[in-house]
Amino acid sequence: MRVLSGIQSNGKLHLGNYLGAIKQHIELQHEHECFFFIANYHSLTTVHDAALLRTYTHDVALDYLGLGLDPAKANLFRQSDVPEVAELAWILSTVTGRGLLERATSYKDKVAKGISPSMGLMCYPILMAADILIYRSDLVPVGKDQVQHVEMTKDMAQAFNAAFGRSVLKLPQARLNEAPVVPGVDGQKMSKSYGNTINLFDDAAQIRKQIMNIKTDSTPVEAPKNPDDCNVFALYRLMASPDEVTLLGERYRAGGIGYGEAKKLLADVVQRVLGPARVRREKLAADSRYVEDVLVESAKKARAAAAGTMADVREACGLATARGSDR
Ligand code: ADP
Ligand code: TRP
Repeated sequence: MRVLSGIQSNGKLHLGNYLGAIKQHIELQHEHECFFFIANYHSLTTVHDAALLRTYTHDVALDYLGLGLDPAKANLFRQSDVPEVAELAWILSTVTGRGLLERATSYKDKVAKGISPSMGLMCYPILMAADILIYRSDLVPVGKDQVQHVEMTKDMAQAFNAAFGRSVLKLPQARLNEAPVVPGVDGQKMSKSYGNTINLFDDAAQIRKQIMNIKTDSTPVEAPKNPDDCNVFALYRLMASPDEVTLLGERYRAGGIGYGEAKKLLADVVQRVLGPARVRREKLAADSRYVEDVLVESAKKARAAAAGTMADVREACGLATARGSDR
């Protein structure tokens, strides 16, 4: 089974990215062949600053490695180191109706948030389909907001196969994470663009401050509280052990615990989960070549996998002569 997923390099990664996507990616490296990449072509839909894009891309790689991605087990590479995806995206665009892209909710949401409605933003799902199809991926672990894009990928693969009368592109399956929507400090979906994040690798004091800012209601300390209706508890549930979750749930229902104390408990759990990753990340950051070496080596493997698909695609649509003969 081949697993593939990507994450954009357009800002600092947060708990939503970790619980919604990265945690699962790292777990899957023990079970399957994995291709994870940093979607820097996609990031160009929002970042137009070369130095910043390079920094974000390097930092996402460092975050993954700090969080436990093992380059001996899983591939971690830059999307742009396999430029053939851009070629496949073009080919897919010729079998994709405009109507399909116009129905993409993520496009509409992004435009509503003020992101420039460029052709790149509109065609974002085509490039994402190319990412998935070029590696003949079976499983695509993503958060809920990306499921529609994986469904669109299936439509594009089917349209290509139907247009050229051959089953060249393999249909993938989305795999939802255990935490499909992680709430931010204001209770909305945690997202860089909402300014409501708890960042993974800000310094410990900043993280504590972000946690202390979580919005709660004004129920007094003594009163019983409903854990299912509390942003602090929602995050605690995703990070703490099952016993800790049961215990805090009981304390909420009994009353006598204030939100300030609950936030402190959450901050401790976040520190416990992310502390070792932070130490590992700092060590790796001190070795200036390490990250680049990992990215370059993985890209070689990814590019080799992509080359096989592209040979079949080019042949199927008449861009190359029949396989086996000279080009
Ligand atoms: P952002 O909304 O902060 O820009 P991205 O769109 O770059 O985040 O998301 C990268 C990955 O993290 C995707 O797989 C996405 O589904 C997941 N993800 C992001 N935010 C959340 C969240 N709040 N809950 C669950 N998953 C999330
Ligand atoms: N669109 C994804 C996001 O914003 C990132 C991404 C790009 C991706 N290509 C992909 C995810 C291919 C899974 C598979 O999070």
